Formats: sequence, C-alpha cells, structure tokens
Amino acid sequence: MAESIALPPLSGQQAALSDQLVQILIEAIHANGPMRFSEYMHRCLYEPQLGYYVNGLDKLGSDGDFITAPELSDDFAHGMARQSAEILSAIGGGDLLEFGGGTGRLAVDLLLELERLGVMPDHYYLLDVSGELRQRQQQLIAGQLPQHLVSRVHWVNGFVEDFRGVAVANELFDAFPVEQFCIEQGAARVVSVDFQDGRFQTTLRDDESVSAYVAALQAEIGQPFAEGFRSEYCPLMRGWWQSLAESMTCGAILVCDYGSERRSYYSPRRGSGSLRCFFRHTVNANPLIYQGVQDITANVDFTALAEAAVAAGLELEGFTTMSDFLLSLGALDQLQKKVDGLDEHERFRVTGKFKQLMLPEEMGERFLVAGFSKGVQPALTGFSGSDMSRLL
Ligand SMILES: C[S@@+](CC[C@H](N)C(=O)[O-])C[C@H]1O[C@@H](n2cnc3c(N)ncnc32)[C@H](O)[C@@H]1O
Repeated sequence: MAESIALPPLSGQQAALSDQLVQILIEAIHANGPMRFSEYMHRCLYEPQLGYYVNGLDKLGSDGDFITAPELSDDFAHGMARQSAEILSAIGGGDLLEFGGGTGRLAVDLLLELERLGVMPDHYYLLDVSGELRQRQQQLIAGQLPQHLVSRVHWVNGFVEDFRGVAVANELFDAFPVEQFCIEQGAARVVSVDFQDGRFQTTLRDDESVSAYVAALQAEIGQPFAEGFRSEYCPLMRGWWQSLAESMTCGAILVCDYGSERRSYYSPRRGSGSLRCFFRHTVNANPLIYQGVQDITANVDFTALAEAAVAAGLELEGFTTMSDFLLSLGALDQLQKKVDGLDEHERFRVTGKFKQLMLPEEMGERFLVAGFSKGVQPALTGFSGSDMSRLL
C-alpha cells in the first residue's frame, strides 16, 4: 500500500549505494550501448551487493518500502497453511517449498499453523535469490520457531529435485524483471536504457523477440495496440515453469500476486503499462532514479503465467481473488476465534489488519491466487468459492 506523493530524500547510506550502482550501469552502457529494460531492471534489483534485493537495506514492512500480505497479518499464512495441509494429506505427506521468502514471516506462521493442524511437512525448503534476505530469514526463523520446527527448515540454491509436496510463491513474480515495449509508427519496439547528457533516458529499438511476442499478443487479443501504447511482459516465465515442472514429481504450487488476466492487462485503458517503483511507501513511475534503493515491479500477466505452467505439464487447479481464496478456507471463522476474548483495542487492531488484507479496494481483490498441480487430484478448497479460471 503506497501513496503517490513527493519522494522522500535518500539517506547518506542509500545515496552511496545508489551512486556505486549508477557507476556500474553507466560503464556497462558505455561499453555495450543502450541496455534492454529487462537487463536494467535485473541489475537494479539483483546486482551483487548493490541491487535492491541484495544490498541489505530494509525493504519489507513499516520501516521499508512496501508491505506484503504475510507481513501484514498471519491470516494469510493461516489460509495458506489450511490449503497446504489439505494437499499434503491428499498426497500422503511431503515437503513445503517457498520461493522468495522475504523476511521469513510466511515460513514462521505457516509452520506454526501446520503444526497446530497436525500436518507437518517433512522439510520446509526456502529458495531466495537474495543472500541478504536469506540471512534475515535465518534470524527470524531461529528466533521465533521452536527447535523441532527450525530443524525442518533448509535453504536451497535451486529447484528441489524430485520435489513432492506444496510450493508457495507470494509476490515472487512481481519481482521478476520485465521487458518493456512501446508501439512506434505501428511497430513494437523494445525500451532500452541509455545514458546521455549526464542522465539516464530511455530509447526505443527494434528487437525481433519483442516484435514476435507483441505480434502474438495482438493476434490473441484481436486488435492492434494504439500508437504510443506501452506495456511489459516477463521473458523468464516459460523457463521458470519448465524448471519447476521438471523438478516436481507430485504436488501443487500456489501463486499469489498482483496482476490480472491478459485482456485486462493489455487493455487500452492500461496504455502506460503497470511498471512502478516503491520507496518508503510512496509510489512513482520512474525507474531511472534511486537505482538500487527503490523497488521496481510490474503486475503479473496471470494468463502468461498459466500458459507457461500448463505448457510445462502442470494442471491449472484454480484462479481467484486472494479474499475469496482465504474466505473459502474459513478466514471468517478463524477471525472470530482470534478476536473472541480480546479487549476492544486489540479487537480493533486485529480486525483492521484483516480488513486491509480482505477488502476489495485494499489487498483482497488486487491480489490473485492461482493453483497448479502435477500427478495428483487434490481438492483445493481455496478455489471452491469462486473460480475465474475461464478468464485466463
Ligand atoms: C516482493 S518480495 C516478496 C517477499 C515475500 N514472499 C513476502 O510476501 O513478504 C520478492 C522476494 O522474491 C525473491 N526473489 C526474486 N526473484 C527470485 C527468484 N528467481 N527465485 C527466488 N526468489 C526470488 C526476492 O529476493 C524477495 O525475497
């Protein structure tokens, strides 16, 4: 949740980190020419030691730049736990694998709830590209879980071979670098980042892979994009799902993120795309500033995601809003139990967070959940209330 207001200034430490990254970007552009936007975004987010997700500055939570569902309220983890328990029971047990674990909050709350439900995964694997966040996860997990649960948690550097169980990915795909394109004189051109006259600026170039992707999009949507239309797509999607599906023998994956199905993603109303930047709970549309200290993110095209998953051999189990997913899994009953016996002040605080998570105009309908499976027929109660799969 962020407001569009003037950007807060950088601290000395932030400015120093950003300056170093800027120098590296300028040198790369001088050496190789304008940089495709996807590479620029990747380096702003993941450049070793300096990128946004690896440089050690606070990002998630009230002291950071944005707040995520598991950071906001354990109601999210509790719903995920109930869905995971159902799948684990259906397949006779297995492991959990979390992609992009952030601070480790979801891992802590999920494991505690799974224990309460009496359905423990054999292992809880965490896979995160950020070494710095991995350390934060280790600290939180060691500090907040009893030893018998800590011992189930393992950090991995890649997909888990012969994985059997439930994988979860909350706000993973919005952190994947995107390619940006713009329609100029009727043709799709790739947005690239150049450094000229002492400042970063974007330029448009021809690119075969981008033209082919956009041509396929327009053919599917049934009409050409208007002059000046600008949007994004994620080039990593297919490869990621292929690797996941190959590593999984049996189980399911639950994906939660902001975004939409394709028609709405590329609707003429969204003619400037969804790329945006977060810094200290403010939002702006300029990725060419505050390199390494502001988050750069884009909405997820859930149709592209589902196509990639299905092409890789997974089955689509359902697609719904986060609020419907959690409600189907009993979120209201759980809330009632949670607030029973609380004093008025605490009750107000707990229900306030629940509302922020669930109300449509807050996170409830801006976040969507998609489920995919392999080799099992799990009953996914999370999609029993409403399933919008046909929209994909
Ligand atoms: C927006 S944060 C979300 C964190 C957490 N899931 C939450 O909801 O609070 C994105 C997370 O994904 C991680 N990440 C980005 N790309 C990744 C990848 N390819 N594989 C694993 N983790 C990745 C980042 O380091 C970060 O922890």
